[in-house]
Amino acid sequence: EKGGWSSFMAKEISEEPEAVANTILGRVHDGQVVIPELDGLDELFAGISRIVIVGAGTAAYSAFVGKYAIEQWARIPVEVELAHEFRYRDPLVGPDVLVISISQSGETMDTLMAVKEATRLGAKTLSICNTQGATIPRESDAVVYLHAGPEVAVASTKAFVAQITGLYLFALHVARIRGTVTPELQADAIQELADLPDKIRWILENEQERIEQLAHWMADTRSVLFLGRHVGYPIALEGALKLKEISYIHAEGFAAGELKHGPIALVEPGLPVFVVVPSPSGAPVLHAKVVSNIQEIRARGARVIAIAEAGDAAVLPHADEVLRIPLAGPLFEPILAVVPLHIFAMGLANAKGLDVDQPRNLAKSVTVE
Ligand code: F6R
Repeated sequence: EKGGWSSFMAKEISEEPEAVANTILGRVHDGQVVIPELDGLDELFAGISRIVIVGAGTAAYSAFVGKYAIEQWARIPVEVELAHEFRYRDPLVGPDVLVISISQSGETMDTLMAVKEATRLGAKTLSICNTQGATIPRESDAVVYLHAGPEVAVASTKAFVAQITGLYLFALHVARIRGTVTPELQADAIQELADLPDKIRWILENEQERIEQLAHWMADTRSVLFLGRHVGYPIALEGALKLKEISYIHAEGFAAGELKHGPIALVEPGLPVFVVVPSPSGAPVLHAKVVSNIQEIRARGARVIAIAEAGDAAVLPHADEVLRIPLAGPLFEPILAVVPLHIFAMGLANAKGLDVDQPRNLAKSVTVE
């Protein structure tokens, strides 16, 4: 079923555009986001005072990105918690809280147990899931299925971009009910979402080969850092997780602002550091801060690989390599910035001759706590 692809991971990365498009399909009506599966829940969404999102691994990183959009558009406070931490700390949730679980497989035991605990405490539960009929959606009050298609490779790729898309659709759905976004903003966001598949295709067509070449040159690397700010921060975490998972290289993701509070001590000559650079026009303040972070690490000899908007000239003098992504609004950029990181992790595992689909010690769905 791999078709002509060398691995399921390669196939699934190539399907990232469709994963986003299929998640949006049927959920935009008359210029507004309406998720049919959430019909009848308007009163619930109008009344909740807080949202907690639970998940593990990559799913939890998509939740971190989703938090920014839900808070910005729907104006509801959102907490993101690793499912296994939530479950065992007597969490403060009740009937006024919506607990959203995110899971590709819908079978992750840690996440399932968190959902059961939320239910026991009287919270309403919503599952955002990629697998029809799985256990977690069956145990939840409501479900929004992503339509990314089956994901076979252990490392999650197309499900991650679909998860963020699903959370954004949820945010716009709830924002419509609560009246917290103007029709113009709703229309802009829908346009941004609709444009994502072509922009991801642009990356695959224009940058994939160069990224794989870069990964090849870096096959002997022992340690890699990933930095980002705002929605770029969870993307840095995702880039690091994917690299550890399939190429067995030590990798760590940091919030760029945290550098001077400790991690900068790790920087030594030649250390590769990936930096997710915000858009200079969409987020000028964040952009300036990240460029100055790049200067700090470069001054200490780091080899900087920037993931930056195609037209961003300001970053060029400061980076050793620039992986380009198309222009998108600040909230939409993470769905593009993660694509080069997925390609890089796969490229590096391939360069080391590893089985990218079946990394050691890992299973596709973790059904034990
Ligand atoms: C990362 C990865 C894992 C899963 C995590 C949650 O590439 O595959 O971190 O994301 O185990 O799995 P689901 O989403 O099935 O609950």
